[in-house]
Amino acid sequence: MGNQFFYTNLLFIFYISCHYYVSVAQTENSTLSIKAVNLGNWLVIEGAMKPSLFDGITNKDLLDGTQVQFMSAKLQKYLCAEHGGGSIVVANRTKALSWETFRLWRVNESAFNFRVSNKQFVGLGNQAGANKLVAGSDLPGNMETFQIVRNDGDPKKIRIRAPTGLFLQAISETLVTADYEGSSWEDNDPSVFKMIILNHTILKGEYQLTNGYGPDRAPTIMQDHWNTYITEDDFRFISTNGLNAVRIPVGWWIAQDPTPPKPFVGGSLEILDNAFTWAQKYGLKVIVDLHAVPGSQNGQPHSATRDGYREWGDSYIPDTVATIDFLAERYADSETLLAIELMNEPQGVNLQSLKKYYQAGYEAVRNHSLSAYVIMSNPLDRDSRVLLQFAGAFSGVVIDVHYYNFFSDKFSKMNVQQNIDYIKKYRASDLSSLTTSYGPLVFVGKYCTST
Ligand SMILES: *[C@@H]1O[C@H](CO)[C@@H](O)[C@H](O)[C@H]1NC(C)=O
Ligand SMILES: *[C@@H]1O[C@H](CO)[C@@H](O)[C@H](O)[C@H]1NC(C)=O
Ligand SMILES: *[C@@H]1O[C@H](CO)[C@@H](O)[C@H](O)[C@H]1NC(C)=O
Ligand SMILES: *[C@@H]1O[C@H](CO)[C@@H](O)[C@H](O)[C@H]1NC(C)=O
Ligand SMILES: *[C@@H]1O[C@H](CO)[C@@H](O)[C@H](O)[C@H]1NC(C)=O
Repeated sequence: MGNQFFYTNLLFIFYISCHYYVSVAQTENSTLSIKAVNLGNWLVIEGAMKPSLFDGITNKDLLDGTQVQFMSAKLQKYLCAEHGGGSIVVANRTKALSWETFRLWRVNESAFNFRVSNKQFVGLGNQAGANKLVAGSDLPGNMETFQIVRNDGDPKKIRIRAPTGLFLQAISETLVTADYEGSSWEDNDPSVFKMIILNHTILKGEYQLTNGYGPDRAPTIMQDHWNTYITEDDFRFISTNGLNAVRIPVGWWIAQDPTPPKPFVGGSLEILDNAFTWAQKYGLKVIVDLHAVPGSQNGQPHSATRDGYREWGDSYIPDTVATIDFLAERYADSETLLAIELMNEPQGVNLQSLKKYYQAGYEAVRNHSLSAYVIMSNPLDRDSRVLLQFAGAFSGVVIDVHYYNFFSDKFSKMNVQQNIDYIKKYRASDLSSLTTSYGPLVFVGKYCTST
């Protein structure tokens, strides 16, 4: 797609999706000024971006990670995983809180696993009374796979088919079994449930998109998206409009291209190669940003999480470093490579684990390139100086801080001038506290404001 689309994208950047950034990195003796655009939603899906790619998914309101609740039509009570999991499933709650809320893992367009709040899965018990519903499996298998059958006239009215082929029924408040053979949709039928979809919990990231379309359709959808969302002409446009770099978010599965683990789709590596070719042609530098790491570093859809949990930690460090090693090796010899960002926006991760990873990731880059900058993203939930001393011990390291005048009532209540004043006062002083004579370089990787 050509310029017209890109303008739209740029508007998004400014006003909605925090996608434009300008940064100034200072060294001891000179100022290196990088003005770049973040090519978000290209090689890593960010569902808030338009146009939506999700509309063609069957049951698009039932994606991975979507949280649902089930109320028995007959009893008018919610299904509940007692104690949040590790125990039986009952139907005796009048209010739905976390024990009554189930996260979907999508198996196909109609089959799902139900993850309860202690992270276990609902399944059929395997002892006597195998038809009884329990929530005690750490991993979902056949016995944890249920089909949601929606009523033709009312998609919120459902019945749940167990792996045995029979339907669930709430016989009484304390007895939920998987042995119903009828087919009635009457409200007093024990197999009929009202499904409440917590629509603010719907995640729209790469996992949801590729798994939503499934292995038959996802490859075509992704390839079309990669080929049209950003094109060579956009690189020309960026370069002729005063910018000198692009930041390209990539996902960990790119290192296993062309056959990444499901549901991810191969082919993005060739697109990244194209991006380097185009960048070189138009005199732009490239920042490769590892935006989605295995396990998810923040639980956000753009980290390619399946269901919103942040799992990244020590056990994921080797795989994450291997991804950096792969990227550094592949692009180190390109003079277009400006920097590799080791991880985008960690949030809620253990700081010691993060430092351990940053140290190893730094070494992986330096093993292949002495000139590429290594960017360390500051944890979103920490003070912006938390890595200052640590990062200052390396050479060619940049701290990336993201300033969002957004996602908070505080900013929407302020008018335009107050927002601008806030940046001049608080953001500027925060930035200057980061800029020390012998410290690391600093980079504002993303900023945005709502107007
Ligand atoms: C920066 O300037 C100082 C003092 O002028 C000089 O000693 C040092 O070598 C310079 N550093 C670089 C990286 O050019
Ligand atoms: C629901 O049933 C379980 C199992 O019998 C019981 O332990 C729990 O107290 C009941 N809760 C309510 C609110 O009735
Ligand atoms: C979805 O998966 C279920 C359970 O594995 C299977 O019975 C069903 O046929 C599948 N449906 C489709 C449309 O593939
Ligand atoms: C989310 O659910 C609420 C309440 O059920 C409904 O009013 C709203 O329209 C829904 N929003 C979307 C985007 O479906
Ligand atoms: C860097 O290269 C050395 C020598 O090949 C190797 O032993 C080490 O594991 C590499 N470090 C990383 C982090 O990849």
